[in-house]
Amino acid sequence: MTLYRATVIDTPGDPFAGESADAMVSDQDGAVLVSDGIITARGSFATLSGLHPEESVVDLDGGILLPGFVDTHVHLPQIRAIGGLGMPLLDWLERCALPEESRLADRGYAAAVATDFLANLVSSGTTTALVFGAHFAAAMDVFFEQAEQVGLNITSGLVVSDRILRPDLLCTPDQALTRSRELIRRWHGRGRIRYAVTPRFALSTTDAMLEVCGELLGEDLWFTSHLNENLAEVRSVAALFAGSRDYLDTYHRHGLVTSRSVFAHNVHAGDAELALMGDTGAWVSHCPTSNAALGSGLFPLRRHLEHGVGVALGSDVGAGTGLFLIKEALQAYFVQQLLGVQGRPLSPVHLLYLATRAGARALGLDHQLGDFGVGKSFDAVLIRPAPGTQLAVNLANAADPTDALARVFALATPADVVSVWVGGRLIRG
Ligand code: GUN
Ligand code: ZN
Repeated sequence: MTLYRATVIDTPGDPFAGESADAMVSDQDGAVLVSDGIITARGSFATLSGLHPEESVVDLDGGILLPGFVDTHVHLPQIRAIGGLGMPLLDWLERCALPEESRLADRGYAAAVATDFLANLVSSGTTTALVFGAHFAAAMDVFFEQAEQVGLNITSGLVVSDRILRPDLLCTPDQALTRSRELIRRWHGRGRIRYAVTPRFALSTTDAMLEVCGELLGEDLWFTSHLNENLAEVRSVAALFAGSRDYLDTYHRHGLVTSRSVFAHNVHAGDAELALMGDTGAWVSHCPTSNAALGSGLFPLRRHLEHGVGVALGSDVGAGTGLFLIKEALQAYFVQQLLGVQGRPLSPVHLLYLATRAGARALGLDHQLGDFGVGKSFDAVLIRPAPGTQLAVNLANAADPTDALARVFALATPADVVSVWVGGRLIRG
């Protein structure tokens, strides 16, 4: 067994359900005891080292140990396409994202992209992700192979579309069924990998394709897609699905709105859609830097919470401006501030919850990860700024753990992520 000693902070509670401070647990000189990758105790270092004097101690002195970050919406094929600013969604897709996605038809290119993607997820402290995959089955095989080697918790799937996009990104519903089934058979449930049925969005999928998605969505697969991101997109979906009540209904009619569904964005959410998500337990991945970069809109967090809809964070790279979930959380905070009375003020505890445990809940993995509870996997990230940096100076002046967290969210960058563990295995540091 190993005792990790650091300032330990996590959010085993739900700060949106009660007093935000009660949701957090923190120990200034804390420790986590880990056996075979599983947490067996956590508390103050003095107490745990007294109870377990024989165990080896890893002294992470000066660092803040947080649960590994959970990114609930990030695009594998877009890791090399970050930074296309100045366009709304549909122009950005056509000019920036989709030309790059086409390049993943080449298996060698896809392998290099997967390597870039996974390396940068790890260096950003993300240990679990719901990954929007590629349109090509061979690219998904190389991605899953590499994800398995790196050891991250990855839920992902082949992206399917049968209209509107560039022709090389399309397939028929029959092809989608066959190719997805093969990938599910090879990868779902293998180690830390799971499969997510992934139509790109209703705009690029006919009812026949969404029906196939419903057929694929077995008992334990996950589902993800985009929803209500941009007003022009919402209008086009309404025109294409004249018989649907709203955008969410285009998915719901095919059995795709369940507690295993995660919808990205939902900036322009209707009340009936929020009510259905609340009733079914579907989750929303809030992607704040993407929403700002594409000018998609200001996320109505308060209305989601009022309808009982769970919200987690997504980087939405490459529309989002990076993989670092601390930055997404800060941008989420900014947006709620700017919304004034319509906003939902967020504390540092809310931000940590959104970047960790909320994502674990969205992915149905909260019994396994997302906080430092006993019995959970030791998936962790150590934030330790270099001496003299702006963050180091500010942490040295923090009044208490909540204040320290606020300074991390304001100032940390991936350069401050010095170590990352998954299942007790050090994968960076
Ligand atoms: N809607 C459909 N595809 C995409 C995508 O790649 N990024 C974003 N942000 N929205 C989408
Ligand atoms: Zn997206």
